[in-house]
Amino acid sequence: MKPILSQHDFYTRQARADHYPARSVYKLQEIDKEFGLVKKGDKVLDLGAAPGSWLIFLSDRVGKSGKVVGIDMVDLPAVRQGLKIDLPCNAVFIKKDVLGGDLFALPELHEKYNLVVSDLAPHTTGVHFKDAADSLELSKRALEIAKNILEEGGHFVCKIFEGEGVVEFIKEVGKYFKIFKRFRPKAVRKGSKEFYLVAKNYES
Ligand SMILES: C[S@@+](CC[C@H](N)C(=O)[O-])C[C@H]1O[C@@H](n2cnc3c(N)ncnc32)[C@H](O)[C@@H]1O
Repeated sequence: MKPILSQHDFYTRQARADHYPARSVYKLQEIDKEFGLVKKGDKVLDLGAAPGSWLIFLSDRVGKSGKVVGIDMVDLPAVRQGLKIDLPCNAVFIKKDVLGGDLFALPELHEKYNLVVSDLAPHTTGVHFKDAADSLELSKRALEIAKNILEEGGHFVCKIFEGEGVVEFIKEVGKYFKIFKRFRPKAVRKGSKEFYLVAKNYES
């Protein structure tokens, strides 16, 4: 008899089988399927890109005529292990703290994008109040970045932890996008406080 797999085991095993470095890829896959976000030829900025599963998924979805730029404060696992990174040719990875004051000095942030995705997550402490506040700070930074670089009509996806200030943040996002919706993909772990805000059709 086959053992019944927990949600955690199912997505972890699937990621291994599909050669993705993290199970989180299935969250973005479901969001894209539900909201139709990514097109061939798109330029996408991926915030909180390590260990790289969204980056690989996005690079496939945008194809050779598109481009994906990933930013994270930690290196991709291959680099940490001293290996050469073998990124797809349409993908770039930059090691950078998105909260750093010099972020907008990056030439990649002077280009225009069709989509900004943020899976940024703080180091969790288990103290919900602090984790939620840290997540909100990252979400606000992601919105600031999106507002600077999105094309008119572009889209924004942002991971957020439930907590104080989230309702106000969603209202703020709603000022700049025609459509905005909370979404909790199936691959989000049971009991997790995270959800995604999906915002479409940017209007500056
Ligand atoms: C859930 S992981 C992202 C997983 C990724 N989407 C994937 O599929 O491989 C969250 C990432 O946010 C990054 N992060 C958190 N705070 C950051 C910051 N201030 N600047 C840049 N990256 C940050 C962490 O280093 C971590 O790699």
